[in-house]
Amino acid sequence: MAKKYTVLETWIVNTAKPVESNSAEQTYDRVQRQGGGKLPVIDVPIEYSLEEHFMDEARIRDFAAHMGGAQDILDVGPGDGWPLLRIAPLFKAVTGAEPSQRRVDSITAGVEKLGLKNVTVKKVPATGLDFPDNRFDGVVAATSIEQSPDPYKAIDEVFRVLKPGGRFRVYFEPSEGRERELAEGLMMTETEDSLGYHYSLKHTRPPWERNYLVKFANTPEMKEEFRKLRDLIERIGTTPSANPEVGLQFLERNQASITGASFYELEHFTSETMKETMEDAGFVNVRITWSAATLARSVWPRLKDSALTDVQAQAICAGLAELSTRLEAPAGIGEPVVGTKPA
Ligand SMILES: C[S@@+](CC[C@H](N)C(=O)[O-])C[C@H]1O[C@@H](n2cnc3c(N)ncnc32)[C@H](O)[C@@H]1O
Repeated sequence: MAKKYTVLETWIVNTAKPVESNSAEQTYDRVQRQGGGKLPVIDVPIEYSLEEHFMDEARIRDFAAHMGGAQDILDVGPGDGWPLLRIAPLFKAVTGAEPSQRRVDSITAGVEKLGLKNVTVKKVPATGLDFPDNRFDGVVAATSIEQSPDPYKAIDEVFRVLKPGGRFRVYFEPSEGRERELAEGLMMTETEDSLGYHYSLKHTRPPWERNYLVKFANTPEMKEEFRKLRDLIERIGTTPSANPEVGLQFLERNQASITGASFYELEHFTSETMKETMEDAGFVNVRITWSAATLARSVWPRLKDSALTDVQAQAICAGLAELSTRLEAPAGIGEPVVGTKPA
């Protein structure tokens, strides 16, 4: 299928001449904190009376339940330590494989803050897991496989480092349910030497994503331009095609301050294509199962006024997670996938 280019990306390609990069370098080395710095336990105390926190606990229990008793676990692409730091108390040993140095530093700080003794983190991409064959009892990944420049190689690598009989539980950013065919996004970042204007395009079918970064000199004038841009975005939104004030007009006006640009492309998955890809890699008993968090969301309306104790909330989430290992979910709604390396 022919690729569609928006006016804004054509301008970026022709004028800023972006060089090829990847998500770890272009995005995750630049963002300050993922999840808005509000990850339960890691950033803020967990409060089971909040639906989001209850669902987070269910997701954590889901990873644990799907490991089927395994004790030495690899988390691929843990970002700021999710689920790595949250699952650590549930296993004997956990290891993170994360290619972004900034995220590795963030995990290291989290390990210290939480006083965890069984966490190791290594700066490696999923496409080149620097571990021996059959090294881990189980592997988990949360919205990281599809961030890899070659997600197929990443899944082959997961298969290689997993012990025979071990399971791989994978959550991904589902492309099911996206309404618009092409969705634009804008984000701003700041490092010591540059201000970053990030433009993304997500396509529904086939599911792909293109990301651009245009870097500007970090001067007082450009800082003021970025401040005004943030205000504008708050008022009119992040769709430069409909609002050139946050797109072409901004870039053209500040063209003289551009110091560099880069881009990367991603391929996204549906539950079905993730399942097929895992089967192609050699996994067996590959199933799309309900996420325990989806189950948690569905029981939440009945539980929210029950004044659950922490122990009760954890037990319910663990029960939902156990259920999620047995309950196949229909394809087409983006639920996570689990597979086993043949024994
Ligand atoms: C959307 S974030 C998810 C982080 C975390 N798992 C979570 O759910 O909060 C994607 C993560 O994948 C990492 N990543 C990017 N490329 C990767 C690769 N080739 N291998 C492994 N992880 C990668 C990024 O650095 C980032 O930390």
